[in-house]
Amino acid sequence: MSSVYASRQTRLLPATREGIAQAAALLRAGGLVAFPTETVYGLGANALAATAVLGIFKAKGRPAEDPLIVHLAGGEQLERVARSTPYGDALAARFWPGPLTLVLPRLDSVPLEVTAGLDTVAVRVPAHSMALALLDATGLPIAAPSANLFGRPSPTTPEHVLADLAGRIDAILQGGPTTVGVESTIVDVSGERPRLLRPGGLVAEAIEDALGVRLLPPPPRLSAGPQLAPGLLEVHYAPRTPLTLIVGEPQAARPRLVSEVSSAIARGRRVGVLLLLDEADVFDPGVRREVVGRWNDPERSAARLFAALRALDAAGLDLLFARDLADPNRGLGRALADRLRRAARQIIQS
Ligand code: TXA
Ligand code: MG
Repeated sequence: MSSVYASRQTRLLPATREGIAQAAALLRAGGLVAFPTETVYGLGANALAATAVLGIFKAKGRPAEDPLIVHLAGGEQLERVARSTPYGDALAARFWPGPLTLVLPRLDSVPLEVTAGLDTVAVRVPAHSMALALLDATGLPIAAPSANLFGRPSPTTPEHVLADLAGRIDAILQGGPTTVGVESTIVDVSGERPRLLRPGGLVAEAIEDALGVRLLPPPPRLSAGPQLAPGLLEVHYAPRTPLTLIVGEPQAARPRLVSEVSSAIARGRRVGVLLLLDEADVFDPGVRREVVGRWNDPERSAARLFAALRALDAAGLDLLFARDLADPNRGLGRALADRLRRAARQIIQS
């Protein structure tokens, strides 16, 4: 896209004290640095500097109406960016550091560029030692969306970040693969009742148990204006190769997946499939497979999901197929179901 960004030199910084110090210096100087968190890699900039934040949108090709998450070194930093609320305090005390983002009333210290003009701000403290060391070394709140080009699957390795953003950002702090693998759960605690905006790495049941109330469901999709949650963008985590998702009970979805794949092969298509471990032997050896976890082990599938989608997408295929990887209505299965539906070009009810 912009030649200014294409000409930037992207430094690969090691996971050492010096690497973190260099990354912190770049961020303090208004630069763009990708760093690992427990969920996915983030693309950071000084959250208190509008010009630095605008650089994130340019580098990612991200629309300005999609607000960013502000990352803090600890819950005690919250008063720099947001007003606390009783539900917010309870969840921060219980789950930070961790894969939970809280939407709270915004303080004027946070530029409107960060929040897409909203009077709330999304905040989290990541559970990752390098991220926390980096945040601490900057002494700043750091705005960071996932470090992918807009619309691509989130990055779970430094290589994914490099593939999308080389030449467009100042540095990548190389912390190895992330552990959770799907983005944080987002809960709006700015209003009277807490609302789930995005299912993610922290299961909603744990949040409801901690608060003793049910979370309100995500709001319906808006046609224009600020995106309240990525779920409001129809296709968000999409591979470039069209993905067909089969949904429904496993007894029906599994044979349907097998038959859809066979008929695509019969039509001469090059096919890739996202598979559970115990299904890997069901398919023609000509099918490109990426294996994730087991139906009852969604943690493993979450950790591998985005890397698997990127690998299938890079394999030069015509069509991709998948089915739900876990119960879509429970635990981490909700986040997996959400990401798969967002990635899919077509959904078949089996
Ligand atoms: O795990 C994560 O959350 C990762 C890591 C890097 O922390 N970050 C991440 O950011 O997934 P991103 O930009 O991909 O998703 C941020 C989403 C926005 O798309 C928006 O829907 C929601 O957070 N958001 C941000 N500010 C908000 C606000 N004030 N009100 C409602 N939603 C907000
Ligand atoms: Mg993202």
